[in-house]
Amino acid sequence: MSIIILGIESSCDDTAAAVVKDGYILSNVISGQDVHQAYGGVVPELASRAHQQNIIPVVDSALKKAGVLKQEISAIAFTRGPGLMGSLLVGTSFSKGFAQALNIPLIEINHLQAHIMVHFIHDNNRDNNMPDFPFLCLLVSGGHTQIVRIDDYLKMEILGETIDDAAGETFDKCAKITGLPYPGGPLVDKLATGGDPNRFKFSKPKVSDLNYSFSGLKTSFLYFLRDRLQENKEFIVNNMPDLCASLQKTIIEILMEKLIQASSQTGIRSIALAGGVSANSGLRNEMKRLAGIKKWKIYIPEFRYTTDNAAMIAIAGYYKYQGGLFSPRDTSPLARMDYDRSV
Ligand code: KG4
Ligand code: ZN
Repeated sequence: MSIIILGIESSCDDTAAAVVKDGYILSNVISGQDVHQAYGGVVPELASRAHQQNIIPVVDSALKKAGVLKQEISAIAFTRGPGLMGSLLVGTSFSKGFAQALNIPLIEINHLQAHIMVHFIHDNNRDNNMPDFPFLCLLVSGGHTQIVRIDDYLKMEILGETIDDAAGETFDKCAKITGLPYPGGPLVDKLATGGDPNRFKFSKPKVSDLNYSFSGLKTSFLYFLRDRLQENKEFIVNNMPDLCASLQKTIIEILMEKLIQASSQTGIRSIALAGGVSANSGLRNEMKRLAGIKKWKIYIPEFRYTTDNAAMIAIAGYYKYQGGLFSPRDTSPLARMDYDRSV
């Protein structure tokens, strides 16, 4: 019998639902929330209200696009955490209610592990290009930056992580300083393509082990602009592409330095990217360049699986389903959540 998983994601500002059948994606629906743009960042209360409005139409659309009836679903996988509590509550409550009504298992998913699991989404063109274990994954999202060692589908260990800001947060905060709207990451990426990455230098952190730090870079970017603006009020508008390219280059250099270190420490040369920042063209290109030099086998996710989506939740659910790893009906969301070590 086929295994059909409905995945639900609502940890931040995207309401998403997806259907996976025997590991193959049938539908992947995402509804973003424009309401936050005017505030320069995600407003938690507005996010949970928007999730409430979106969740039923999004799930309905995911089932229709998949051509799956609700009676055919084997289990519901949902993001239990980490994320914004109010947002997580909407997805969790909906999933609990729907699973109860259909009398099917409920599967809790860790959002960060799910980002990594996109590498196991089956695709007729890609089945032969799934990473072998063990592999390393640089997980770069809006809220997290981690180097993770993956030994099995759900057996993952964090080797290093940021001690302050995340890489995506750094893109967004620095973009905001220049006056760009939220989220700034994709805009910096776009503007950087026309700029000189070597024009400006910003400070890089000295952090021990495989950990990251980005708050110093953000401060250095802020002070640099403050000083230049005193001399020339038009400095930002006149230098936007070079500023974006130089900032992006610095973030990528910081990310890659520790990733190279992790690879040589562990001897693992299969390296994957995951999370919203893995959509960044500079980062993707740098991975390809390094793969040639370091003899890495690299795994770069399709664009639609980089930022938050429910396909990643559904595929993680598919593997947990096979292990019988179900959650109790009285489960509740977790704003902070450790990696699942149940497998
Ligand atoms: O994984 P994600 O969708 O959400 C979290 O789990 O946080 O990541 C969102 C982050 C944001 O900070 C956004 O600016 C960043 O990913 N991002 C990018 C790009 N696309 C999304 N950063 C740099 N370049 C991009 N092309
Ligand atoms: Zn995410």
